[in-house]
Amino acid sequence: MSTLVTGGAGYIGSHVVRLLEERGEQVVVVDDLSNGIPARVPNAVLVELDLSAPDAESRLRAVMEEHDVTSVIHFAAKKQVGESVERPLWYYRNNVDGLANLLGAMEATGVDTMVFSSSAAVYGMPDSGLLSEKTECRPINPYGQTKLVGEWMIDNAARHGLKAIKLRYFNVAGAGWPDLADTAVMNLVPIILDRVAAGKAPIVFGDDYPTPDGTCVRDYVHVADLADAHIAALDHLGAGEIAESVFNVGTGRGASVLEVIDAMSRALGRHLTPEIAARRAGDPPQLVADVSAINEVLGWRASYGLADIADSAVPEGMRP
Ligand code: WQD
Repeated sequence: MSTLVTGGAGYIGSHVVRLLEERGEQVVVVDDLSNGIPARVPNAVLVELDLSAPDAESRLRAVMEEHDVTSVIHFAAKKQVGESVERPLWYYRNNVDGLANLLGAMEATGVDTMVFSSSAAVYGMPDSGLLSEKTECRPINPYGQTKLVGEWMIDNAARHGLKAIKLRYFNVAGAGWPDLADTAVMNLVPIILDRVAAGKAPIVFGDDYPTPDGTCVRDYVHVADLADAHIAALDHLGAGEIAESVFNVGTGRGASVLEVIDAMSRALGRHLTPEIAARRAGDPPQLVADVSAINEVLGWRASYGLADIADSAVPEGMRP
């Protein structure tokens, strides 16, 4: 018996792989290594494979049979909003075709359990800042669209016997282990670290939003907590009863860009004075998760806060 983790050599996937291994489970990682790093998963079987390649479905079937796979956690996907606007078809090919191949291989081999990485990007520009799973999904970029299509594909498969949970991540940051840190410089926390390392000030995209301090509010969730939510989801599916199948994963608390910069100042042991820049296109003022469903159904709740996220994100060489 083993769990197949697609994208398992990535930032979030590798955290889940490590938790599964700590529980003594066998893990098979499938990753195209476009962003994945083999050193993050030294103890797992690693199969280099692009899920959207023409032969991916048959290769996945072979992997599932060879390693007696019984469940899948599916991370492998492209995840940059701006890039998805530039290359929408490529996003659909990677994220949607990749999932179709994976679901096809699962159906063919009788693997009936899946946890899927979805995103708060499915909500788009919501009217209200506190989002429950019942909030209407109106994605505003191809990335968010591919995640919503993925949810629909899984819902269809669920009508034919798939047991699945979709997790809608809010803003993931921090590191559960130093060697699994986010090496991509795409989101606020790594961008702050990158700029500080280069001797530059952090940039705030707009301080005239209708929020308490004028900067955008997001729900920052520690990657170790997020990883734990996948384990809770897998255990829930294993227990057999699936009342709800989609859950927000956040803390339920918002933090502004200035509050994040403040937390990073403390973690770095030096005061950071940000530069205020113009608003970035497409940023909603506030996105905070209603986490009551995941708490009630999966018994999961974030255990770390912003200070823990900031402390864990700072690499050894930049610690005070
Ligand atoms: C956070 C806040 C910026 C950089 C994106 C995706 C979302 C999800 C998570 C995958 C915003 C502000 C940022 C900087 C800043 N991805 N900011 N200065 O946009 O909330 O969410 O990543 O599922 O789908 O859209 O995250 O980290 O880019 O920005 O002021 O240098 O920080 O404007 O308010 P975002 P982010």
